[in-house]
Amino acid sequence: MTHTVQSSSDDQPPRLYGAQRETRVTLRDLAKAKERGERWPMLTAYDAVTARLFDDVGVPVLLVGDSAANVVYGYETTIPVTMDELVPLVAAVSRATRRALVVADMPFGTYQASPDQALAEAARFLKEGGAHAVKLEGGQRILPQVEALVGAGIPVMGHLGLTPQSVNALGGYRVQGRGGAGERLIHDAKSLESAGAFAVVLEVVPAELATRVTDALSIPTIGIGAGSGCDAQVNVWQDLVGLTPSPHPKFIRPYADTRSVIADAVRAWSEDVVSGSYPSEDQSYQ
Ligand code: KIV
Repeated sequence: MTHTVQSSSDDQPPRLYGAQRETRVTLRDLAKAKERGERWPMLTAYDAVTARLFDDVGVPVLLVGDSAANVVYGYETTIPVTMDELVPLVAAVSRATRRALVVADMPFGTYQASPDQALAEAARFLKEGGAHAVKLEGGQRILPQVEALVGAGIPVMGHLGLTPQSVNALGGYRVQGRGGAGERLIHDAKSLESAGAFAVVLEVVPAELATRVTDALSIPTIGIGAGSGCDAQVNVWQDLVGLTPSPHPKFIRPYADTRSVIADAVRAWSEDVVSGSYPSEDQSYQ
């Protein structure tokens, strides 16, 4: 027997954020947090250094988002990014973390064709990347894929509202779920829950709609541009720390100005290199 069997007692697991924990966050922990009405943060991560930092801070869920297309690979949209580009990032984040649940984002074109396609591609994230769950964009049209993945033991996070992989069909990055579309989104969210999804991201939808979805589901909702009524919030980490250039969407609140901090450091170092004052004697080997 090589597994550590966890106690099956009804003990409440520690709070998702802000409690000391040694073990990896599980789906059960997320379900208990929803029961307790506890809010929690989720952050994107794409490399070992930042993933370890966010894990040390105690962020309970890290998403290797297909936003890597923009912030890592420099594509204009998330559409071009591939499994081969994301798998190494997922592997780096998984290796660097001890506590966070690592969710890998299925790229455009890797799950829409069929449940079999979704299964084969998602398995790569678990086998080669060490991910603990995958995320898929869409509602009714991907329910068979969600059922197939969950049936195969792969936890699925849903994603509704502004689904960036469908930017061409949506006619741009605009608020979703206004008017009659709100009822369809609630129906999609409930269908994802019934299909076995363990959480749903709600991106750029009216706050009141996101609150209604949150109240209607027994699985957590994770908002981005969806107001404060969701169970959790997710941000792209470079937006959160002010590293991405303005303008930002209105739901971004930069908590630091690391763009200036890094630019100042690089400028100062460059000047020291040019003047010859870096490296000093202390920074040289005898
Ligand atoms: O790819 C991503 O970063 C995402 C989040 C914004 C939810 O899907």
